[in-house]
Amino acid sequence: MKKKWWHEAVVYEIYPRSFKDSNADGIGDIKGLISKLDYLKELGINTIWVCPFYDSPMHDNGYDVSNFFEIAGDYGTLDDMKCLIKELDRRDMKIIADLVLNHTSDEHSWFVESRSSLDNPKRDYYIWKDGKGDDTPPTNWEGFFGGPTWVKGKTTNQWYMKLFTDKMPDLNWESQAMKNELYEMIKWWIDLGVDGFRVDAVAHLGKHQEFNDGEVHEGNKYSRAYHNYSTLPVLDKYIRELCKEAFHGTDVMTVGEAGSGASVRDAHLYSDGTDDKFSMLFTFDHCWMDSDSGDHRVPGKWNTRNEMKVKRFQDVCKSWYDGMYGTAWNTLYWSNHDQPRVVSHYGNDGEYRVVSAKMLATTLYLLWGTPYIYNGEEIGMTNIEMGLEEYDDPEVFTFHKEAIEAGVPEETVMHMIKNVARDNARTPMQWNDSPNAGFTKGKPWLKVNDNYKEINVESQLEDPHSIFTHYKKVLNFRHNKYKDLIVYGKVNFLTIGDESVMAYTREDDHKKIMVISNFFEKEQTRSFDLVGKNVILSNYNDSKFDLTSITLRAYESIVIEL
Ligand code: GLC
Ligand code: CA
Repeated sequence: MKKKWWHEAVVYEIYPRSFKDSNADGIGDIKGLISKLDYLKELGINTIWVCPFYDSPMHDNGYDVSNFFEIAGDYGTLDDMKCLIKELDRRDMKIIADLVLNHTSDEHSWFVESRSSLDNPKRDYYIWKDGKGDDTPPTNWEGFFGGPTWVKGKTTNQWYMKLFTDKMPDLNWESQAMKNELYEMIKWWIDLGVDGFRVDAVAHLGKHQEFNDGEVHEGNKYSRAYHNYSTLPVLDKYIRELCKEAFHGTDVMTVGEAGSGASVRDAHLYSDGTDDKFSMLFTFDHCWMDSDSGDHRVPGKWNTRNEMKVKRFQDVCKSWYDGMYGTAWNTLYWSNHDQPRVVSHYGNDGEYRVVSAKMLATTLYLLWGTPYIYNGEEIGMTNIEMGLEEYDDPEVFTFHKEAIEAGVPEETVMHMIKNVARDNARTPMQWNDSPNAGFTKGKPWLKVNDNYKEINVESQLEDPHSIFTHYKKVLNFRHNKYKDLIVYGKVNFLTIGDESVMAYTREDDHKKIMVISNFFEKEQTRSFDLVGKNVILSNYNDSKFDLTSITLRAYESIVIEL
């Protein structure tokens, strides 16, 4: 495969609302972000992905776009954005924008027009259908944030489709005029200097055009018939056209968010190593591996157990590697703005927070693919405990309401929210131990985690044993001595079937290394013949091994040069 700049990218995802506030209104902004670019450079980041910064009523914190050509007032101005691009350039860094093509805000002018009458020229920019009766939606499908996927329009008697919140109507990808406007918009951002795009919710662009009812699980009100609007074959056509119209002939990189339902069998629908598809995709197989179908009254992900399933994780890593190596490209990520904090989720956010966070970083980011590090992960930020009224995310409130209505006890519902809510990842970045963790001089839009005095950037920057310093070392493998090996080398998974330890090798024509990690507190002994080899990275400060048999301490992880 031809080498591309994004093969060597190390991406850092920024949730702009929570990153750094420059004007004391309690909301992160572009000027604040610019003030932290040197910090990111120091960490070893060469590309940033900024979550949506477009004009928006902020019902879903910017994923509800009301104007693609303007910057959200909360975040700054178009001039600030140009300045950010210039400042990135100066540091030899790139920027990936979030591209929301599945829906807009209901305050977008397209929707205001579309909803106004049956014969408005923009009517078919969105999906309008007759209900099955005055109060019965066109289908019984359930949306991602609970409740039906339809809302009855106010001006006409029809219903519009929405997979997320009522304020986020889905765009109709069967409308050529609508798509042409999107393509023009994307080219406008490329001209402005954006280097790539993360394409939001792309798995859902295609809807089953027959709009039939789906099966309803006993005890549920609506059908979780995701196959009606996830990973449909028509995406092949949509993605090819999008790439041809907007990206061909550019050096832009694209990463599609291939949400629920996309398995490795579908990978090439999204990304196949050619310019006709995305550069890579985000898969979700490894995100909820600790949840089970447990309580059918709530959607799967809320049934999480906060315990890593190591065997399953290794199977997932191997199957995506086997499916993509040599034919496409992979992504590596533990967390993002939709997931709980990884150290709470798959590590240990108590006694072993530091070692377990380091172990997770070593294990994942030395695999094959482009890493995406989520802001705060590099200092081991944790989940937060809050009262219901302190949450912000609309998903929390619809989930809470529906789970209670379905008969789940309040205490269980709150426990699920504490473990899974997306706001866990959205609390303000913890910069130092001054009030509000140095995020803002005003009142933060979302509660700052009480542990900021202990967990913050400033205390870790110079500490040779901090999580931050460990991330630097891991990323350094990708930039210096081991660059070709880590970026392009082959992976061999050695412990498939193991429930606690994961080991793999990376290999190219010149070098070979082995990574061995214990995912739990309990000690684990495994035998490998490594006599005479060198440990080149460890997450403990004293790593001495008898390399005939290795006893890994709690969450211990080592890298050995072979
Ligand atoms: C994606 C985003 C998520 C958002 C949703 C709707 O899954 O990552 O944050 O709520 O799409 O845009
Ligand atoms: Ca601000």
